[in-house]
Amino acid sequence: MARIPDGFIDDLLARSDLVEIIGARVPLKRQGKEYSARCPFHDERSPSFTVSPTKQFYHCFGCGAHGTAISFLMNYDRLEFLDAVEELAKRVGMEVPRDTQQRNVNPETNDLYAAVEAAAKFFHKQLDSSAKAQAYLDGRDVSATIREQFMVGYAPDGFSALKDALGTDERRMRLLERGGLFSKNERGHVYDKFRDRVMFPIHDRRGRVIAFGGRVLEKDDSPKYLNSPETPLFHKGRELYGLWQVRQAHNKIERLIVVEGYMDVVALFQHGVTQAVATLGTATTPDHAELLFRNAPDVYFCFDGDRAGRSAAWKAVESVLPRMKDGRQAFFLFLPDGEDPDTLVRSEGRDGFETRLRDATPLSQFLFDSLSVDVNLTTLEGKGRLAERAKPLLAQIPDGAFGDLMKQRLTELTGVGARASAPEAQVPAQRAHARMGAAQANKPSLVRTAITLVLQQPSVALAIPSSLHFASLEQPGVDLLVEMIEVVHQRPEISTGLLLEHFAERAEAPALMRLAMAPAVESTAATQADGRVFEHEDSRRQTFLDTIGRLDAQAVKQRISQLEARVREGGFSALTQADKAELLELQGVARRQDMGAR
Ligand code: UTP
Ligand code: MN
Repeated sequence: MARIPDGFIDDLLARSDLVEIIGARVPLKRQGKEYSARCPFHDERSPSFTVSPTKQFYHCFGCGAHGTAISFLMNYDRLEFLDAVEELAKRVGMEVPRDTQQRNVNPETNDLYAAVEAAAKFFHKQLDSSAKAQAYLDGRDVSATIREQFMVGYAPDGFSALKDALGTDERRMRLLERGGLFSKNERGHVYDKFRDRVMFPIHDRRGRVIAFGGRVLEKDDSPKYLNSPETPLFHKGRELYGLWQVRQAHNKIERLIVVEGYMDVVALFQHGVTQAVATLGTATTPDHAELLFRNAPDVYFCFDGDRAGRSAAWKAVESVLPRMKDGRQAFFLFLPDGEDPDTLVRSEGRDGFETRLRDATPLSQFLFDSLSVDVNLTTLEGKGRLAERAKPLLAQIPDGAFGDLMKQRLTELTGVGARASAPEAQVPAQRAHARMGAAQANKPSLVRTAITLVLQQPSVALAIPSSLHFASLEQPGVDLLVEMIEVVHQRPEISTGLLLEHFAERAEAPALMRLAMAPAVESTAATQADGRVFEHEDSRRQTFLDTIGRLDAQAVKQRISQLEARVREGGFSALTQADKAELLELQGVARRQDMGAR
C-alpha cells in the first residue's frame, strides 16, 4: 500500500475537529478542558472515555482504547485506514495526495482485480444457461435473492469455457493465470481450473471479488470444494467468506458468527441470520481473529461437536485470547453430530438457531473446562497442573477487567495467585487514577517532566534546537526524549495522538499513554508583573525550556567530571588536545549556567 506522507496526516488531524467527529456519534459531556462519555468500545455504566481537543486524542481508562480521529473512524465506523483519511479530508476540504490515492503500487494489480471480477460475472451468467447447476441449487433450496446477493455462478464443463470467453489475448491470459483461474499440465498447456462446479466468489472487505470456491455437483466427486490458490489478491488466512455481505446488510454489526462452509453462510443468510462468515477451510488464524473483532464486539464460533471440532475450537481460543480487550466477547457453539449450520437452520429455523447461539459456551468456560478435562481438581496436584496450563494463556489477555476476572477465576479454581491479584481488585478506571496518583506522589524526574510536556503539547519541542548537551546524559528515558524531540522537529504539526501512535509499538507505549493523560506539569514559569503565571502554552514552553536547561546543566557537569576524573588518574597528558578544548569550553558553560541559576 502506498504511504500517505506523515506531514499530510499531521496537517489533516490538526484541521479536523475531534470533538465534533466523536460528538456526532457519541454523546459527549464537557468536563473542564476535556470531554467525557461512556466508552463506545466497551460496555460501561459510568463514563471513562475522555476526548481531549487540545491533545487531539481520545482515551478510555476502562478498556484502553485510544487514538486519533483516524483511528476513531477506523474503529467506530469500521473504515480502512485510507477510507478514514479520505473521509476526514473530505470534511475539511483537503485533497489526499494524488499518487497515494492509488491503493496498489503495482498498476497491474488493478487489472488483476478487473480480470477476477470479469470471471465472476462470467460464471454468474453461465448459471442462467445451466439447467443442471440450477437444479442443484434448487435442490439445496438456495433462493434467487441469495444467488444474486452472493453472486453464485457456474463454471461450465470442458477445459476451456473461461479461457475461450475471457482469455482473448496474451495479457488477459496472463492476468487470469495470476488470478488463479487456470491450471497447467506438464506440457505447459493451460486450461480452466474450475470445471463443472457451482461457484462461490469470495469478496474482499471492499466488495471486490478476489477468489472462488467451487463445489462439485455430484455427491462423490472430489475434491468437494476446490478453492483458488494463494494469489496476489487472495490470502486464505486473512479473508472471511461473507464478510462483505454482512457489512452490506448492517450499519452496526453487533455480532459475527463463524462457520465452516460456504453453504452454511448462505443458508444462515437466507433464513435471516445475516451475520455469518466462514473461514475458508482453515483454522481460525490470528488475522481472522483481528478482523472479526475489528468488525463486531461479539464473536460466535460454530464447530462440530466431535474431537476435530473441539481441536479446531481450541485453535480459535489461541488466536482470540491476545485480542480479548474489555468489551469483546467470544462464544463457542458445538453442533450435534452430523449437523452443520446449514442443516440446522433449515430444520430448526432462525429461532432454533438463535436459541443455540444464546446457549453457546462463553470463552471463559470453554477455556477452563478444556484445561481441566483430565485434571482432578480435588487434589493439590490437579490444581497445580491447571494453574500451570492456564497461566501462559491468561497472560496473553490484554490488561483489563476481563483479564483480571479470568485470573480471579483461576484463583477460585486452584487457590493459586490469590495474594498476587488482591490489589488489582479495583475497577479499571479507579486503578488508572490510582497509578497517576502514585506517579505524582514521588517527584517526577526531569526527563519524565520533559517527556510529559512534549507529549501533552508537542510544539514545545520546537523551542529548542535539536542538538543538545543533555543527549549524552546517562539517565533512563533520555534516548526516548531525544527521539521524541527529533520526531517533532521533523513533523512540526504532530499531535499528542500521533506522537503516541509513533511510539505505539514500543515497550514504553503504556507509560507514555499515562503521561499523556497525566495532570498538567506544574509550571516553573516566572510570575509576571501582575503576579499571575502565563497560562497554558507559553508557560508550558517556558517550563519545558527550564527543564531542558537543567538537564543540559547536568550533562555538562557529568562530562566535566568524566574529563576531570581522567586528569586525576593520568594528569593533563591523559587528555587529547580536543578533550582539553572541550573541558575548557564546558567549564565556561558551567560557570554561565551557575550564574544563570542564581
Ligand atoms: P464440509 O465438508 O463440511 O462441507 O466442508 P460443507 O460446507 O458442509 O459443504 P456442503 O454443505 O456439503 O456443500 C466445510 C468447508 O471446508 C472447505 C470448504 O470451505 C467447505 O465449505 N472444504 C471442504 C474445502 O475447501 N475443500 C473440500 O474438499 C472440502
Ligand atoms: Mn454442509
